[in-house]
Amino acid sequence: MGKATAVANANIAFVKYWGRIDDALNLPANPSLSMNLAALTTTTTVEFRSGLPADVAMIGDQPATGQSLARVVEHLDRVRSMVGIEERAWMASRNDFPAGTGLASSSSAFAALSLAAASSAGLDLGESALSRLARLGSGSACRSVPAGFALWEGDGDESSFARQLVPPEYWDLQDIIAVVSYQHKAVGSYNGHALARSSPFYTARLGAVPGLLASVRMGLEGRDLLSMGPAVEADALAIHGVMLTSQPSLLYWLPGTVAVLRAVHAWRQEGLSVYFTLDAGPNVHCICEKASAATLEERLGNLPGVQDVIVSGPGGGARLVEYHLF
Ligand code: PMV
Repeated sequence: MGKATAVANANIAFVKYWGRIDDALNLPANPSLSMNLAALTTTTTVEFRSGLPADVAMIGDQPATGQSLARVVEHLDRVRSMVGIEERAWMASRNDFPAGTGLASSSSAFAALSLAAASSAGLDLGESALSRLARLGSGSACRSVPAGFALWEGDGDESSFARQLVPPEYWDLQDIIAVVSYQHKAVGSYNGHALARSSPFYTARLGAVPGLLASVRMGLEGRDLLSMGPAVEADALAIHGVMLTSQPSLLYWLPGTVAVLRAVHAWRQEGLSVYFTLDAGPNVHCICEKASAATLEERLGNLPGVQDVIVSGPGGGARLVEYHLF
């Protein structure tokens, strides 16, 4: 057994996962499609050590506690049982972006943790097995395992993982993220999925997914934002419709969120090709082609309520790196 450090990028879904058919196995109610984000990175080191009485997990500069620690320990248990070892582990993880704000930190976190833990325990998993393992930690993490643009489908434990549709170099699509809040959200997506079914719109949104997915795939394959963008926006609004009408209601939007959504619509009217999407949080991802990225970055930065703008192109897959966090 050794010490391993892995890096993974967060991903933004163009057709999203919202609601599960199996809570324990993180099996999604619908297929989803995403792009890894080169600018949003988690780096995680794991070392299984004999003689350690319990797992120790550092997230940023803080020891993990409560549900965060429980999820890390549960994930390390999965790796321990795959290999047949009892040793506890040291784990340290660092994001280069704020966690819990809808910037999909659990996707990069569990992709990096899966690869670092498996490698430290001497397991050489192929891409689909690694994606399956990451899925068990956090559903969307399975899409951060392959590089570039990924499709997550399958309805059983064995068949549910993400695979690459096209590599990052295929299309230099840009995600210009308007950060309107750095606050930790009250209800994370892990718990949010469990509420989805309580919305009267849940089934209607699932019914719309095949059509939206077909448009997004066609747009992606043809590098055609005009055929993809409207479906990306429609799905984001549909899942937020489900969130808003869940019991209890999940309202992630802030005044700054609405200001960005309205601005995107106005800029599109003026001829700028840009479409928004949002995860379970207030920050807005504005999807555009490279040629519009600088204009959008500047315009978003000037909007009231926007605290920061992060620009990201397509990212790579989960990968091992040489250095260690401890
Ligand atoms: O992987 P989770 O449990 O954090 O769920 C992710 C949910 C969304 O970010 C809202 C959508 C998605 O597909 O990424």
